[in-house]
Amino acid sequence: MANFIDFTAQYADLVPARPIEHLGNTDLSFGGRIEPPLKIHEDGGEQGCGGKVWAAGELLCEYLIDKSDSDGFLSLSSQTLKAKGLYTNILELGSGTGLVGICAGFLARSRNIQARISTTDIDNLIELMSTNTKLNGLEKFVFPETLMWGEPLNPKFEADASNNIDLVLAADCVYLEAAFLLLEKTLLDLTEGEHPPTVLMSYTKRRKADKVFFRHIRKHFEVITVTDFDRYEHYKLKRTHLFHLVRLQ
Ligand SMILES: C[S@@+](CC[C@H](N)C(=O)[O-])C[C@H]1O[C@@H](n2cnc3c(N)ncnc32)[C@H](O)[C@@H]1O
Repeated sequence: MANFIDFTAQYADLVPARPIEHLGNTDLSFGGRIEPPLKIHEDGGEQGCGGKVWAAGELLCEYLIDKSDSDGFLSLSSQTLKAKGLYTNILELGSGTGLVGICAGFLARSRNIQARISTTDIDNLIELMSTNTKLNGLEKFVFPETLMWGEPLNPKFEADASNNIDLVLAADCVYLEAAFLLLEKTLLDLTEGEHPPTVLMSYTKRRKADKVFFRHIRKHFEVITVTDFDRYEHYKLKRTHLFHLVRLQ
């Protein structure tokens, strides 16, 4: 782990520092659509860039909220996503504070749906994700655990596992060139098999080098830009986008 921290520290300046908007405990209501607002503790970047909430994470929360109505939970029946019914077994990659998974857990709980959401990241962020899960009282829905990109996948996350993952979420995970191949391997491992999960990836455009990641994954995934959500224009101005990745067979 020490090596990984050295490795990320070396590249820390690749994610331009976000102004500290909400260091400490923040309430996030997404325009009053989540009540009571989600509580997220941010560590100001103590454990790397994951200790803060990023615009791409907020976008993904807004999308999940948009696609959940009073009795439906994430029935993503938009033009770009095939209606697959409900998504109840969810995995988030590079969760950082855990915000996106916690938002999914909140939506499931408020609709009485027994979803299981695994929020994952490097070891050092498990404590922060657990704190935030507890702050929102979502311990029965959200389960923080370590998942290092590029490492062999825990068999329970494999696409052909008995209780397979049906939705993978990734917010702002394309930012570190040295990790592109690791992230690509994990995305491939997660979508191996006959019934690959839906993959939703939000992304903030910062560097030209990011093109290398997308050029690589286009060999294995159709990358569909998702535009059918309320604040699409708002996030576009922040160079923040949402993609649906469909594994090519
Ligand atoms: C820019 S932050 C995004 C955090 C959060 N998803 C958000 O949008 O607010 C990128 C996240 O990816 C995680 N990450 C980077 N490299 C990783 C790796 N090799 N394995 C697992 N997670 C990694 C970082 O620890 C960090 O939490």
